[in-house]
Amino acid sequence: MKITSAFKSALLILMAGAAVVVSAADKKLKIGFAQTGAESAWRTANSESMKSEAASRGIDLKFSDGQGKQENQIRAIRSFVTQHVDAIVLAPLVETGWDPVLREAKRAGIPVIITDRSIQTSDESLYACFIGSDFISEGRMAADWLAAKVSGKGRIVELQGTPGSAPANDRRKAFGEAIAKYPDLKIIDSQSGDFRRTGGKEVMEAFIKKHGKNIDILYAHNDDMALGAVQAIEEAGLKPGKDIIIVSIDAVREGVQAVVDGKINCTVECNPLFGPKVYDTITRVLAGEKVERKSFNKDELFDSTNAAAVIASRKY
Ligand code: AHR
Repeated sequence: MKITSAFKSALLILMAGAAVVVSAADKKLKIGFAQTGAESAWRTANSESMKSEAASRGIDLKFSDGQGKQENQIRAIRSFVTQHVDAIVLAPLVETGWDPVLREAKRAGIPVIITDRSIQTSDESLYACFIGSDFISEGRMAADWLAAKVSGKGRIVELQGTPGSAPANDRRKAFGEAIAKYPDLKIIDSQSGDFRRTGGKEVMEAFIKKHGKNIDILYAHNDDMALGAVQAIEEAGLKPGKDIIIVSIDAVREGVQAVVDGKINCTVECNPLFGPKVYDTITRVLAGEKVERKSFNKDELFDSTNAAAVIASRKY
């Protein structure tokens, strides 16, 4: 068969086209993740889930630890825009102040996925979707469990998370509204421990100094602060879980272990392992598919009735 030059050219064009298709499909996704910091065991598990899942999918993940500062996270997002990443994942430290930088990402045509904590924005088109837990429902679950445990009676001290963050705002509001039904269940003091173990210990020491034996219950916005408070309670010669009933949130392994040991009475789960869901969603967003606007993880509650049965299988 005689191969004409026209046939040769057509063949070359076809081969070049196929190469473009193959390289587009094989192209390594480049994703920027602006994490809040490393304040808690929950956060460590969350970062690990995002990193290990990226590695197993061959994603080039640009990870930035915001070290508990919003300005660091804003700087990270700007650098992701300059690096022309395919998508940006933001776990926002606080709820407000994101619009200007999200506008920059939008102008560059880079979709932003908000994970873990929600934001307040005047323009909902600035992010593609939200993936995380329902903090309102967590606060409510903690309050309902507590009210039943103490028959609607008791003086509560509250350890709040980072001021201005969605979990601190929502868990405080939902818990307060739920216990309002019980006139003898009252919050007598409330301070931030910044979601850190050291913060929980220091603030609990101050609560004990100020209120002495007039504390019946501790409500902590996360397990790390509750575990710090357990130390403070023991050092004050009291028995955590008995002299002071403790209800907390996260259900990290050490928190659930403390429930098994009787030092924390209840911990409401807040699942941090959403790496797979985040990358699945990004793939769909980049393919132009419509995705769920807000997707919440399903969270459980652990107390003395079920903690021992799950402790060996806790993944974080
Ligand atoms: O945003 C999730 C919260 O942040 C977790 O409850 C807490 O442990 C973390 O620091």
